[in-house]
Amino acid sequence: MASLREEIESRRTFAIISHPDAGKTTLTEKLLLYGGAIQTAGSVKGKQSAKHAVSDWMDIEKQRGISVTSSVLQFNYQGKCINILDTPGHQDFSEDTYRTLMAADSAVMVIDAAKGVEAQTIKLFKVCTLRHIPIFTFINKMDREARDPFELMENIEEILGIKTYPMNWPISCGKDFKGVYDRNAKRVLAFESDGRANGVKMVEEVEAELGDARLDDLIGAANHEKLAEDIELLDGAAEEFDLDAVQHGELSPVFFGSALTNFGVEPFLKEFLRLTPTPLPRKDAQSGELVEPCSEQFSGFIFKIQANMNKNHRDRIAFLRICSGKFERGMEAFHVQEGKNIKLATGTSLMADDRAIVSEAYAGDIIGLFDPGIFSIGDTLCTGKKHVQFAGIPTFAPEHFARVTQVDTMKRKQFVKGMEQIAQEGAIQIFRDLGSGMEEVIVGVVGVLQLEVLEYRLKNEYNVDIRMQTLPYEHLRWVLNDPEELDIKHLDVTSDTRAIEDMKGNPLLLFGSPWSINWAEQHNEALKLSEFGNLT
Ligand code: G4P
Repeated sequence: MASLREEIESRRTFAIISHPDAGKTTLTEKLLLYGGAIQTAGSVKGKQSAKHAVSDWMDIEKQRGISVTSSVLQFNYQGKCINILDTPGHQDFSEDTYRTLMAADSAVMVIDAAKGVEAQTIKLFKVCTLRHIPIFTFINKMDREARDPFELMENIEEILGIKTYPMNWPISCGKDFKGVYDRNAKRVLAFESDGRANGVKMVEEVEAELGDARLDDLIGAANHEKLAEDIELLDGAAEEFDLDAVQHGELSPVFFGSALTNFGVEPFLKEFLRLTPTPLPRKDAQSGELVEPCSEQFSGFIFKIQANMNKNHRDRIAFLRICSGKFERGMEAFHVQEGKNIKLATGTSLMADDRAIVSEAYAGDIIGLFDPGIFSIGDTLCTGKKHVQFAGIPTFAPEHFARVTQVDTMKRKQFVKGMEQIAQEGAIQIFRDLGSGMEEVIVGVVGVLQLEVLEYRLKNEYNVDIRMQTLPYEHLRWVLNDPEELDIKHLDVTSDTRAIEDMKGNPLLLFGSPWSINWAEQHNEALKLSEFGNLT
């Protein structure tokens, strides 16, 4: 039987991020294919086919062919236990994605080879850099016309401000994409294309050294020559491979491939698993000490809550990232924020449509705990005499706002319950006018589609109809001043600024433009504003 340390050190937990359509879902699926978790590609998602992504659970997702919520996929590959935190690619669900990144130990950034870095890549990348986790780059869609690889490197470095190190190098692109050169092994991997397989099966590779005469046949003489030139250029370039810089998120190892045809997926997976860290220690916010993953004591934090995940299981699930030790079903743990021991009766791991009941899990794993309404995002659970408390998960400032009222005032109870539960999940943030009640709520979301999801869920899950009026604000700032010292009702602000409060009574300001934020800061010297709030 594997020891606690062996179990934990075999874990690799990461998230895949990308701008919508760059190929995140396709790459995830291919990793599952190579990992042996699925037998044929196409079972994770087929927008046009009858099959739906493992993470598609809500009708709205099916209607639109996008995945709304993040789920976790676990599989074993070459002795490693891999947890992929699947994040919705659609830009409107970025809040959830941001939070999921808090639970990952590294990130894989998928970039479309024809487009380079896109808007959503930049946002997600910034969140990764907040935590200094390693970021790997997979430049996808090399089977199509792609930008020059040197130019793509430059594009990443310039826009994202991270250094890059190509781990492999593409041999041509489009229909002529013949393989990659592995810079570490100094070998060419020529892909044996099988037109019939069309990416459903794994791809065969032939290995050869640069200069090997067989390569003229395998990849073409002109490609062979061009590759030799490129490699000489690359090897002469100043950037050295520096594992330490990779581990601190300062250098991104770059891989080229095509998730659709499977070209380059396996070389990527192998190298990625070699370089990506085992579960990272997390900081106890109180003592500032690091909690070691292999500690005998169990600890973890809730990073996501989801109600009514499945109509067959009307329930609420709290997703826990285990940070240290071992989880056993039925164990007791101390719920730090509530200040009491609770029994962790049921753990679920989510894969496909089934929910397997987990009886044990280790640091690095994500488990779903049934939540009778006791958990909030950012909560810590732990065992042992010395309690730890992980830092809260930042709340990202919403960018769209709407005033929401219930149509039928008799349904006030359901309305309040629905709004509060959905807000607790972190899908929306709720505010109100200073000193007002719950009859009218101001809702803030990161993506505008979340407003539709709110309306849909209130109707379907809580049987409440609402009226929604969008508000002309785009920026929200938390006011850090003590309300005793600064009364936000009497600030010198522009007419498109509005003072509101959250449900705990914390003061905030809504602004119509960045210009109004500047105005407020300049005309109210004492005013201290922050872009991030804290859920805990
Ligand atoms: P996302 O999760 O990042 O949003 O992207 P997704 O994997 O859904 O891929 C977006 C589209 O790009 C899909 O096509 C997918 O088949 C295609 N794609 C992904 N990887 C590659 C690749 O390596 N090469 C090429 N040529 N295409 C790729 P679609 O037509 O929008 O959807 P579908 O009907 O094929 O699912």
